[in-house]
Order: sequence, then structure tokens, then C-alpha cells
Amino acid sequence: MMAHFFADTSVLAEDNGEPAGFIVGFRMPPRPESVFVWQVATSPDFRGRGLATSMMAELLQRHVEAGGSYLEATVTPSNTASQRLFRGVAEKLGVACNETLEFARDHFPGGEHEEEHLFRIGPFDAGDVHRAFAGATKN
Ligand SMILES: CC(C)(COP(=O)(O)OP(=O)(O)OC[C@H]1O[C@@H](n2cnc3c(N)ncnc32)[C@H](O)[C@@H]1OP(=O)(O)O)[C@@H](O)C(=O)NCCC(=O)NCCS
Repeated sequence: MMAHFFADTSVLAEDNGEPAGFIVGFRMPPRPESVFVWQVATSPDFRGRGLATSMMAELLQRHVEAGGSYLEATVTPSNTASQRLFRGVAEKLGVACNETLEFARDHFPGGEHEEEHLFRIGPFDAGDVHRAFAGATKN
């Protein structure tokens, strides 16, 4: 349902017609210059091969074409792969990745959920995205 209503900010990667990874995102109502990555996942068989980075490239390409300039996501401290993904995207774009505590443990019932850090990446433009990811999409 999210991918249906937010199709222009969501990405599905397929391998021979089978899903291999996806991003579900949305433009943030309080900050429309930002696309927020709500979920990103790569099928276990495809991890560590650049698929999430390629899906990010596709999302960012569309986002800058629509006038956007920031990428945001929340990440838990234990999710090393996700942290590397977002920091890597910022590094490739050559822009800042500003990391702040967004949701503390006590925001979640039971206190068992880890805190969530907001990663805010940007500002970037179409030239940055092109330089960072030329040839990385639609593979
Ligand atoms: C996070 C996730 C989407 C990354 O997907 P991926 O296709 O493997 O990512 P990529 O191959 O594009 O790699 C992106 C970066 O993360 C690094 N990375 C990937 N898997 C890693 C791991 N298990 N440990 C450490 N770093 C890792 C890569 O080296 C790369 O870094 P680099 O650009 O500095 O070389 C994937 O691990 C996943 O689906 N995890 C489960 C779902 C999840 O936690 N989603 C995020 C929260 S919504």
C-alpha cells in the first residue's frame, strides 16, 4: 500500500522477474526538499553487492528531478550495514551526513526497541547525483 501511494519515491529491484530488493520512501510533509527512506531492504542473496546503493541512486535521480535536495532516514545504532549504506551515499555525493538522535528508547513501549538516529544527507543537486552514480541505475 505504501509503495502504491508513494510509487514515485519507491523502488523495486528485480532479478529475472523476481523481487531482489526495494525502497519505500516518501517526501517529508514538514520538509518537502527531503525524501525519507522508510524501508530499504535487499534480499539476503544479493547483499553486499551494491544493490541498495543502486536503488538509492535511482531514488535520488528521481528526487533531484522533482526539485529535492536532501535524503533522510532513521537508523538504529546496531544496524551497521544500514549506517554504511547511508554514510556511503553521502560520501559518494560529496555532501554532509548529519546524524542526530531522533527517537530515544523511551519513545517506544517496553523500552526494548533501540533508539533511532536521524541521518540527514545533503544538500545535493542533479550534478552531484550524476557524478556519484553515473551508470549505477537500471542494471
Ligand atoms: C542495509 C541493506 C539494505 C544494505 O543492502 P546491500 O544491497 O547489501 O547494500 P550495498 O551492497 O549497496 O552496500 C552499501 C554499503 O554497506 C556496506 N555493507 C553492506 N552490508 C554490510 C554488512 N553486513 N556489514 C557492514 N557493512 C555492510 C557495504 O560495504 C557498502 O559500503 P561502502 O559503500 O562503504 O562499500 C541490507 O543489509 C538489508 O536488507 N538489511 C536488512 C534490512 C534493513 O536493516 N534495512 C535498513 C533499515 S530500514
